[in-house]
Amino acid sequence: MIFQIRDDERKIFEVIGRAAGDLGFPTYVVGGYVRDRLLARPSKDLDIVCVGSGIELAKRVANSLHPRSRVTVYKRFGTAALKHRDLEIEFVGARKESYRSDSRKPTVESGSLSDDQNRRDFTINALAISLNDRDYGSIIDPFNGLEDLEAKRIVTPLEPGKTFSDDPLRMLRAIRFATQLGFRIDPVTFQAIKDHRERIKIISWERVATELNKILLTATPSVGLRLLDESGLLGYILPELAALRGVESRNGRKHKDNFIHTTKVVDNLADRSPDLWLRWAALLHDIGKAKTKRWESDAGWTFHAHDAVGERMVPKIFRRLRLPNDKLKYVQKLVGLHQRPISLTQEEISDSAVRRILFDAGEDIDDLMTLCESDITSKNPHKVRRYLENYGRLRERMREIEEKDHLRNWQPPISGELIMETFNIPPSRQVGQIKDAVREAILDGDIPNEYPAAFQKMLDVAAELAIHPQVK
Ligand code: CTP
Repeated sequence: MIFQIRDDERKIFEVIGRAAGDLGFPTYVVGGYVRDRLLARPSKDLDIVCVGSGIELAKRVANSLHPRSRVTVYKRFGTAALKHRDLEIEFVGARKESYRSDSRKPTVESGSLSDDQNRRDFTINALAISLNDRDYGSIIDPFNGLEDLEAKRIVTPLEPGKTFSDDPLRMLRAIRFATQLGFRIDPVTFQAIKDHRERIKIISWERVATELNKILLTATPSVGLRLLDESGLLGYILPELAALRGVESRNGRKHKDNFIHTTKVVDNLADRSPDLWLRWAALLHDIGKAKTKRWESDAGWTFHAHDAVGERMVPKIFRRLRLPNDKLKYVQKLVGLHQRPISLTQEEISDSAVRRILFDAGEDIDDLMTLCESDITSKNPHKVRRYLENYGRLRERMREIEEKDHLRNWQPPISGELIMETFNIPPSRQVGQIKDAVREAILDGDIPNEYPAAFQKMLDVAAELAIHPQVK
């Protein structure tokens, strides 16, 4: 089959083909670029394999480009890269790899195009386009990758046990591609993932997190989350989430499967927001439920304080997966607050309760509401509509109170410094007590959010503590 070269590719393919011809290196476009182009997905990474030196080829290509590109050489890997327009082009010599059982790092030697295709993870990633005069533009497809693209199938080119034990990261990649592309993993390949799941332990947490993030960023992350669960990989990478699996029944009363619920919440959230960290908050919002599950004879199944317990579990998960520290507080905050808005949708809620959540959530209040709206997973469309309307009304009320009180980035008008100065006291517990009492009085609506009233409240609280202003 001949690949339909697009106008924007023609020039660069020709330049590479010509440079390759001059050097006498048979050269091909390979991997993800070919796959994504055939699926009409955008692709910015162009991988070039040549039978020869990738570094030499990259240099020659760079010299033929206008304007000339700068080549970055990775000597240790024998590869070189350059940027051309919006493409990142990487050049590598065709290779043959053999793996040891305790490492992802293979022993590499030069090889032919077919050696190079053999070492690839899935048939759909093992397609190559020739850039050589002899058969320019033809697709070289030794493993029927085209057929698998058509059939939307993820399958390994070789015996799957070998592909996965060579590089266990590929087990996660299979699940990620299935989720991203809407493909099915071939049953034999999936069985091999189950059989080799324990090998995921040799993969660095950074790489695991990269794949998890890619799954979370798809349109329906639940597909990947369920495959992670079914394959048994979830227990190795997010055991806290795997622990939410299952339903228990007592006296005819059962609780919902909190893992399945979580996967639905993540999907609902994916419909509402592209933000990765809000999606992480959805993934972890009920993480405290396994530890807090109790049976109470009158109430049935309860998960008291799962929000607070979950909030405390987040740092360990972030540390383990090497997720960024500057997102930790945000995710923790949303997990910790996710139960609060529901209680504010009941009738007769005071302004002060709304004010308090506005203060506690600060600038993340909209994200918190989006999380809560995504947390509705009832199968009854009437109920879903009613709950969403309730949240809609709460959002409206928040908007009104916010307009009046400006609590989003609010700092109470009385600072610790002012208290220490007024009463001439050092930093102490009492300073905190006075400051908190003033803030609470404003949030409760006992006094207006204004400096004179807050100053008077400060004097009153201090007097109760037998602290008096210093007359200078
Ligand atoms: N590859 C592999 N095994 C891996 C990683 C990559 O066999 N563990 C091969 C595949 O042929 C893949 C190519 O190297 O197509 C390029 O890898 P990479 O850029 O990581 O992935 P892409 O397939 O391009 O997809 P994405 O960019 O979405 O990760």
